Amino acid sequence: MIDFATYRMLAEKNGTPLYIFHEEEFLNNYDELVGCFRKAYPNYQISYSYKTNYTPYICRIIKNKGGYAEVVSDMEYTLAKRLGYTNDKIVYNGPAKGPMLEEHLLNGGINNIDNLSEALRICRLADENSGKIIKTGLRINVNLGRGSVSRFGLDPDSGDMERVLSELKKRENIRINGVHCHLSHARDLEAWSMRTELMLKSADRFVGGIPEYISLGSGMFGRMDDALAAQFGCNVPCYEDYAGVTMDKIAAHYLGGSEKPIVFSEPGATLISKYISFLTKVKDIKTVAGRTVAVTDGSFYNLGEISLKKQLPLTVIRNGDDNYHGEYDIVGYTCLEYDTMYRAYNGTLNGGDLLIFGNVGGYSIVSKPQFIRPNCPMVVIDKNGIIKEIMRGETFEDIFSKFVF
Ligand SMILES: Cc1ncc(COP(=O)(O)O)c(C=O)c1O
Repeated sequence: MIDFATYRMLAEKNGTPLYIFHEEEFLNNYDELVGCFRKAYPNYQISYSYKTNYTPYICRIIKNKGGYAEVVSDMEYTLAKRLGYTNDKIVYNGPAKGPMLEEHLLNGGINNIDNLSEALRICRLADENSGKIIKTGLRINVNLGRGSVSRFGLDPDSGDMERVLSELKKRENIRINGVHCHLSHARDLEAWSMRTELMLKSADRFVGGIPEYISLGSGMFGRMDDALAAQFGCNVPCYEDYAGVTMDKIAAHYLGGSEKPIVFSEPGATLISKYISFLTKVKDIKTVAGRTVAVTDGSFYNLGEISLKKQLPLTVIRNGDDNYHGEYDIVGYTCLEYDTMYRAYNGTLNGGDLLIFGNVGGYSIVSKPQFIRPNCPMVVIDKNGIIKEIMRGETFEDIFSKFVF
């Protein structure tokens, strides 16, 4: 990671707030994740979750490394195409796909049906293109029996699934070529082990033979600082642990045959979170009714939802040499009372101090609303140590121009 002098220089040159993408560390993380999974199952493949952070510079790195694009909207699909992806390396997921789904399917794209309406839509496409083979996968609603049930995908034992299968099978030019699932709030190893077993059963039941792919979705713990890991209150597994409870089972299931399915996981936060930091400046310190707040030129909106639940890694670069020690809530520029970026920071803060929040790569830039202020720029420190801007700051005009004046 970079030294204080470089952060000071960045603040001076680019202003604050500022996102910083650490490319080399990101590449190492990518290689470690892929390496652990491929060691156990060589046909493992990453399908990067665009919604988590669709910065084109980052998506292009993933493409250059051979990773697929996992998209859930026509907007993300258009970006993947613009980056040069062919459809066979784009995975279209999601419950409400846009009008580009048909083009995607006709061009041999990977698709996972979420619901009956989508299946009927694909049947219509197959009827209109009877000379063409249309391939599609199914999103399976995997229920681990832990009380919380996802709203996504098809319940394998439901009437909807029965109807989907019967409609798809009525068409000679439709092939079910894969199965997919994703679970949130189930990052533990037992959950990954169970989802793998359920997906192998689903592949046997709904695809038959050797599927072209099985996608296990995402929701792993990525690499993170110890202080952040400790806040999850559980053992935070490493990639090797995850590979051990998933890939071995899949390798054993398809042992012997010459054909093996591609096995995807769809990392988003897992891949990117740790490798973007957010640099912001303290604008004011004030005490109200015994509560001391440090007001910054950033916001929790810049950090993403995780900052509301966890204390993100924080580094302070002091501006002065004041020795007053106190407890501060570090807060944002918005008018929201709950815009707190860090709760009860213990130390010394002054106006002009620089703060570096770590682990802000996931669901931050893509979730920043145009509320009160436009978003700030992002620079990369690339693998050769060269710094360049990869996202300009939004302008007032970017925001005003969509309205009718
Ligand atoms: C279908 C799907 N794949 C992948 C992801 C990314 O998961 P994560 O950010 O936990 O890596 C999500 C996140 O919601 C998702 O819904």
